[in-house]
Amino acid sequence: MAGSRLDLVSPPPGPLLLVGARAGHDLSGFDPALTTIVQGFRPDHDSLQARGFRMRSELGSDGSAAEPPAGSAIVFLPRARDLARARIAEAARHVPAGAPIWIDGQKTDGIDSALKEMRGLAPVEDVQSRAHGKIFRVTVPQGDWLPPDWTARDTAVDGGFVTRPGVFSADGVDPASAMLAAHLPDRMPARVVDLGAGWGWLAAQVLARPGPEIVHLVEADAEALACARRNVTDPRAQFHWADATSFRLPDPVNGVVMNPPFHDDRTADPHLGSRFIRAAAGLLTGAGRLWMVANRHLPYEAALAEHFADATEIGGDSRFKVIMATGARRPGARASTTTGRTPGARGPQLRRRR
Ligand SMILES: C[S@@+](CC[C@H](N)C(=O)[O-])C[C@H]1O[C@@H](n2cnc3c(N)ncnc32)[C@H](O)[C@@H]1O
Repeated sequence: MAGSRLDLVSPPPGPLLLVGARAGHDLSGFDPALTTIVQGFRPDHDSLQARGFRMRSELGSDGSAAEPPAGSAIVFLPRARDLARARIAEAARHVPAGAPIWIDGQKTDGIDSALKEMRGLAPVEDVQSRAHGKIFRVTVPQGDWLPPDWTARDTAVDGGFVTRPGVFSADGVDPASAMLAAHLPDRMPARVVDLGAGWGWLAAQVLARPGPEIVHLVEADAEALACARRNVTDPRAQFHWADATSFRLPDPVNGVVMNPPFHDDRTADPHLGSRFIRAAAGLLTGAGRLWMVANRHLPYEAALAEHFADATEIGGDSRFKVIMATGARRPGARASTTTGRTPGARGPQLRRRR
């Protein structure tokens, strides 16, 4: 498992920077008072903060003026190559020449190619393999040693939007979100929430229709939300860096749109989408509507039946299904009817609009 190689390294005493550490990593060997972690995913960020670590949420953010420079760093390699490079550049920005940076990652996340690449840029030693991954130590050379384009930078995508390394669908509009937008009604409700709003494309489509007075963009990835703030400058937009599965508003809304995630890091987790459905029901009035898109194979019918009186497939193709649900039941209330008109061995089915 990622992070299970941390006992193989012994950073020098003093301030340490961890770039990309997650709540599930065993960080018990590090002193929270001397350790700063860069982690922008809200659930991980909050969990690590509660353990006493000093936290930063974005790469290249400068909230660190009062922060001591780190004497060493550990970078946790993500799968996206430009984010991996940006994390290494972030670590390099904070440690002096001669200091060690460890790079830890799984084979499936490209640790072998990172190792090869780093060997061409700096002295690399102490390569250790364990648990389908590797960790190795890079000694930071004098001067500019990393290619300048490794630092996190904006990508301009169609429609005048910007994205940053590692955010969902950083190269352009996600096809599932595009399909969902194509099935939204011509007029949207007055108060709308976009759960898992990413860099803001779907919310922008909602705001482009008549009707909305306020659109809440809820996103756990700080980097994506920072893009959304730049991409959606409409004053009716409100931005929330939050875990959608526990997000609440003081007053109910009458529309929720979402293209829920179904991966936690690299692990497929269909329960995550079910928790988004539950959260959507908790935000809506009884007459409010949920519009969502999902990969066709994902089994959301039971969650929809539990939390909504009616759910209808209003569009889709062999890859995706677009669903509209209404009759939200507050989480905790028991379902009195099921969505499935044909309950049976396969569980509730979606009604299809003909
Ligand atoms: C499939 S993407 C959809 C993004 C955006 N709505 C779009 O259409 O491009 C799902 C989004 O949910 C975010 N996400 C994942 N887990 C989350 C959570 N617990 N709370 C809020 N957002 C989350 C991801 O960072 C990602 O941006």
